[in-house]
Amino acid sequence: MQFTIHNRPIEELQTQALVVFAFEDRTTAEEKRADALLGGQIKKLRSSKDFLPRFGRTRLIFHSVFPRVLLTGLGKQKDFSLEVFRGAVGRAINEIGNLPVKNCAFLMPKTARIPMDEMSQALTEAALLTDYKFSYYKDADPDGIRLEQVTLVAEKQDAKKVAAGCLTGEIVGSNVNAVRDLGNHPANVATPSHLAEHALAIAKADRNIKVKVLHRTDIKKEKMEALLAVSQGSDEEPKFIILEYRGRKTGPMVALVGKGITFDSGGISIKPSEKMEEMKYDMAGAATVMGIIKLASQMKLPIDLVGLIPATENLPSGKAIKPGDIVRSRSGKTIEIVNTDAEGRLVLADALDYAKKYKPALIMDFATLTGAIVVALGDDLIGAFANRENLFPKLEQAAKITGEKIWPMPLEQDYEQFIKSDFADLRNIGTTRYGDSINAANFLKEFVGDTPWVHFDIAGVAWATREKPYRPKGATGTGVRLAIEFLKKFRK
Ligand code: BES
Ligand code: MN
Ligand code: ZN
Repeated sequence: MQFTIHNRPIEELQTQALVVFAFEDRTTAEEKRADALLGGQIKKLRSSKDFLPRFGRTRLIFHSVFPRVLLTGLGKQKDFSLEVFRGAVGRAINEIGNLPVKNCAFLMPKTARIPMDEMSQALTEAALLTDYKFSYYKDADPDGIRLEQVTLVAEKQDAKKVAAGCLTGEIVGSNVNAVRDLGNHPANVATPSHLAEHALAIAKADRNIKVKVLHRTDIKKEKMEALLAVSQGSDEEPKFIILEYRGRKTGPMVALVGKGITFDSGGISIKPSEKMEEMKYDMAGAATVMGIIKLASQMKLPIDLVGLIPATENLPSGKAIKPGDIVRSRSGKTIEIVNTDAEGRLVLADALDYAKKYKPALIMDFATLTGAIVVALGDDLIGAFANRENLFPKLEQAAKITGEKIWPMPLEQDYEQFIKSDFADLRNIGTTRYGDSINAANFLKEFVGDTPWVHFDIAGVAWATREKPYRPKGATGTGVRLAIEFLKKFRK
């Protein structure tokens, strides 16, 4: 999908479909201008109440000036936000996707509150995220008609800002879609080695990013026995991927850790076969971290980032770890593996401990860690745990902008007793199965020491079984935009 800006009179615009946004309780100058060309049709549709521009409602009209006009509701002016706008763009793109057109144009609405570069970024972002199709193994457009060209129609005085926002939106959208691709690829393709190659390709294309891949022997040297334990049941080689982005002038250093289980069968504590195929997305945290690093570099954020990805499969075999096995993690703490399906916290234990080497101002980890967070928060809220209360308002501020919702979760101290083992320092599941997301987070906490740290449990949000305006089914890429927005403003 390609984007262009049109800043000449709208009469000169050539498009197969023009999108005109409309507020429920106000008629914008842009709407009036379009309506003048359409002979007052919009006004008639409004006054006859044939079209009420409620949020997300659309109405297609045919006309001789533009072959098609898609009216798209924005709802009430007081409720308007970037997220509302992304949602409306998503609705419009979906409608247009069902039409036999290859190009369309959006008449950019102007509001008093939101600058035009933010508006055009949101539009471009939402268009790309809505139009996303995973089509590596199957033709997603059997009719061959695909939306190729999107024009943003803006006034001359706004053209510069609109163009800048559009460029950012393109970078953001394409990177989030790349994260989705990794989550959607099946586990026979997206192996630990494939993740490592993806990281190498990112670094090759970007001279501000460096990569290092630790192979089995290096991982052994690092004494990451928890990671090795999880991988010992699999024939795929484990990898520990290190990505570094240097963009710092005065900014801080942040470590990003991503769970990279490329398939989670549960191991000997095997999962039920129902929905087990979805466990190919258990590397969503890894994909998120790679997406953040690439995007941060393309956006030239003044910050240093290190991405750490423990990557392995979790499978049962004659070599696999067994319930009751005890391993010594890189930190020196011993872990009784009571349940081999609680493997995420094992590989993260070693990665979080490794992160401390960098003396980061903050560690952020992204992990599809617990089914319990899906039960608690569903598919649209990220469970966020932090060992510093003051991180939450900043995270919530970022979430408000990007529309990726977070919910603060507690690192309940009283529950620490549940992960103490009779035979080792820690056990990898709680003595009670209640509050497992908290037990898992408390387990991770044992390995971050005193470093400021946020843990994002993305098990619910990383995969969608229902559609939302700019989120098709499958891997969602949720968390990338949130982290970037947060990191943009993060100071030590
Ligand atoms: N990868 C899963 C968590 C998960 C569940 C992600 C559903 C996405 C959707 C994790 O490794 C796991 O298996 N967790 C177990 C922990 C339990 C054994 C304590 C779980 O949540 O059932
Ligand atoms: Mn598991
Ligand atoms: Zn898992």
